Parts: sequence; structure tokens; C-alpha cells
Amino acid sequence: MLIEKESICFKKGLHYQSFKMDRIKIIGGNPLKGIIKISGSKNSALPILAATLLTDKQCTLNNVPRLTDVFTMIKLLKSFNVKIDFKKNTLLSKSDRPQSLVASYDLVRRMRASFLILGPLLARYGYAEVSMPGGCAIGQRPVDLHLDGLEKLGAKFVVKDGYVKGQVNGLLKGTKIRLKKKSVGATENLMMAASLSRGKTIIENASQEPEIEDLGKFLKKMGADVNGCGSEIIEIKGKKKLNGCNYKIMPDRIEAGTFALCVLGCSGDIILKEITPFVANDLKRTFSFLKQIKFKNTKSRSEIKVSKNSDPLNSVMVETEPYPGFPTDLQAQLIAALTISNGVSEIQENIFENRFMHVSELKRMGANLALDKTKVRVKGKKKIYGAEVMATDLRASSCLIIAGLMAQGKTIINRVYHLDRGYENIELKLKNCGALIERIK
Ligand code: UD1
Repeated sequence: MLIEKESICFKKGLHYQSFKMDRIKIIGGNPLKGIIKISGSKNSALPILAATLLTDKQCTLNNVPRLTDVFTMIKLLKSFNVKIDFKKNTLLSKSDRPQSLVASYDLVRRMRASFLILGPLLARYGYAEVSMPGGCAIGQRPVDLHLDGLEKLGAKFVVKDGYVKGQVNGLLKGTKIRLKKKSVGATENLMMAASLSRGKTIIENASQEPEIEDLGKFLKKMGADVNGCGSEIIEIKGKKKLNGCNYKIMPDRIEAGTFALCVLGCSGDIILKEITPFVANDLKRTFSFLKQIKFKNTKSRSEIKVSKNSDPLNSVMVETEPYPGFPTDLQAQLIAALTISNGVSEIQENIFENRFMHVSELKRMGANLALDKTKVRVKGKKKIYGAEVMATDLRASSCLIIAGLMAQGKTIINRVYHLDRGYENIELKLKNCGALIERIK
């Protein structure tokens, strides 16, 4: 079983190597029909795990997805003396004072979200050294907004030897921070830091993603005084101490959106289970411009039926934008679904400057795509064809899965370790809906 193998390999320090050889084989062309249980949100779980550093009391997290990124965060937290017990999808944490306050390059380079420990460490211990995350496959991704905001709260930084070294004289002190640009990670780092500080912080131009609200709810359960999450202005009255708590991570709206796009590309009916009414409404809103896909509430409040008939899709114009705009994390999957459609679609990427690595791979499958700086033109075809392709990042991997499911013939996807960073048991979930998909060596 994948998960067992994953945790064993992690213990042996073989984490990434273990997946390098895994590939996914898909025989495309089947409509999808069945039920899929949506996992807990990766992008909620990661900041919430970082927030457990804010207290020495026990936290219990439910609905934590078993993903490589979550295991990377666990390893990072353990290196800061956080005791963690993770069974099935429940995680218990207790964060005691560490001997060292240095987050190594080896752990931070694997995942940018590692940088989220900076705010909590500075707030609780007044010192932290965190390796600079560096660039990644989808763009430069700087951390200036995180550092500017934390400086306003009283931290001083030096960047030396590839590390950000931060120090606070006494406690962080609340103030007004206006983010120059919307940033999910910077908003989260600042919310966590300000929760354990002196005085009141106002974050203006804050990101409004549902995962920010989830973090806010978790911080509130810890005893923090956080208000306005989900709006552009977040107000936090700092507390001297925070408590442990019990919290259930929200369902993963990007995973749900990815399966909705699988249905859009392949046609069929899928019931998405264990989503909240909020995530269901969010999905309907996100895809409201795609008239051919239908979302229907089922009798249960935590389910939604997604369906699409076999008629080709119409062309669309879409731009990715910060929430509540169309999410950049679904851009690649949308392009895959549109490769078979009527007319010409245009997809503009406004969040990351280089998030089109999947385009050349989709072309290998016969898709008619033209990339112009940050815009992709998709000239819909009647068919695309299976091929051997390479996954380059997390969402590009799920894009290639959708394309493989839609294509005629056999697709082999290499480097699927990217997929395991963000999708729990994706091939099993799709197999249960009639997809011919398997992991091979
Ligand atoms: C988070 C999500 C990621 C999603 C992204 C945008 C997590 C773990 N990851 O990433 O899946 O694709 O939001 O919705 O939640 N920027 C700066 N300076 C900074 C920080 C960011 O210029 O200090 C820029 C980035 O390069 C990017 C934009 O701001 O162009 C948005 O990035 P941000 O919202 O910070 O993304 P992440 O939090 O890294």
C-alpha cells in the first residue's frame, strides 16, 4: 500500500527517491461514474500544522491528508522538537522548546510552504533561521512580502549563506500592515505571528482564500483573537499565550475541482463526498462559466453530483486571479479538459509567471496549444492521443492525468512523485469510477 511504503521510506531517508521510479499508466476514453471521497485540504493542513508551533499544549487535527507535503512539514516540525503522532487522518502534536531554531535547506527546498514556520517561531521564541525557499518550476516565488510584514511587527532580518536569520527584541508588536500584493502565504505567516504578540495588528489587502479562513478558525480555537478572515482586512489582537485544541481540516477544494475537471474532460457522473456546503457552492461558482458541467446537490449536505454529457465543450476565456477569481491551482487541469472542444479558448495566467510547463507535454498528446508569454490559446480538437509524458509540478501532474483519461490509447506519466505531494490516492479514487489507471514501476 502506497502510504505504508511512503512512511517507511521516509524513516530511511529515502523519501523522494522511493517515488522517482513510479509512473502512471492510463488507457483513456472511458466516461467516469462513481463516488469519490474528497480528502482534507493540503493548503489548509500545511499552515495549520505550522501554527501548532505557537503553543506548548497538545493539538489534535482531524481530516489531515496523507501527502508527501504533509510528511515534509511533519519532518520539519519534528526537527523543532514537535512530538507528532499521525495515524490514519488524525494527527496529534505537542511542541516543546527545541534545541536548535534552524530550518535546514534540505527540508525547506522540498516545499515552499516550509517558510510558514518563520512567523510562529519568531512569535514564540524570538529567533529563527529558515533557509530561503528559492525558485521553483512555476516561477520565482519571492518571500519579500513575508519579510516586510514580519519586520513591521518588529522582527529584524539578515539574509546570509542562503538563510533568512530573524530576531525579535522581546515580543512582536502589533501594527498596521498593508500587503503590496495579495499573498496567501504572507497573509498566513503574519496571521500566525500576530496572534502571539503584543497589541493589535491590521492586515490590509489580505488574501481571502478559504484556506485563510480555515487557519483563522483554527487560531480562534487556540484562543487567538482573529477577525475578518475571508475579507481583505484581518484584525488580530495579540495574545500572550495560545492553547491546544481539536480541529477538523476543511475539504480540499482544489482536489474537488480537479475531479470536476476530470468529469468535464471525460464526461460521466461523479458524486463528490465529504465536501462542505461551502466547498460545493465554491465549485459551482468557480465553474459557472462552463455551462456544460452540471452541479447538483444530493440529499446529503456533504455531497454534490457533478455531471457532463458527451457533447463537446464550448470555448471559454479565463484568467486566473486571487480568490474569489479562478484559481491558478486549477489552470493546468482546465487546459487539459479544453483540449477536446469546439472553438478557441484563451487561458491567461496572472499569478505565476511560468506556470505552463504542462503545455509542451499536452502537445505531445496532439493538443493544439500556443503559448504567448502568460497566455495559452487552446484550439479544440476532436481527439487527443496517448503518449509518454513527464509531470513537472503538482498541478501539471493532475493535468496530465485528465489528458490521459481523455486520450485515445495509452499514456505513461513519468515523475509522478509530484502528484503524491498533493493528491491522496488519486489513482484509486479514479479507478473506482471506471478509469483504466494504474501505478507502474
Ligand atoms: C499558495 C498555495 C498555492 C497557490 C498559491 C496562489 C499553499 C501551500 N500554496 O502559495 O497552491 O498556487 O497560493 O493561490 O497554500 N509573492 C511575492 N512575494 C512574496 C510572496 C508571494 O511576490 O513574498 C508573489 C508570488 O510570486 C505569486 C503571488 O505573489 O506571484 C501569489 O503567491 P502566494 O499567494 O504567496 O502563493 P503561496 O502562498 O506561495
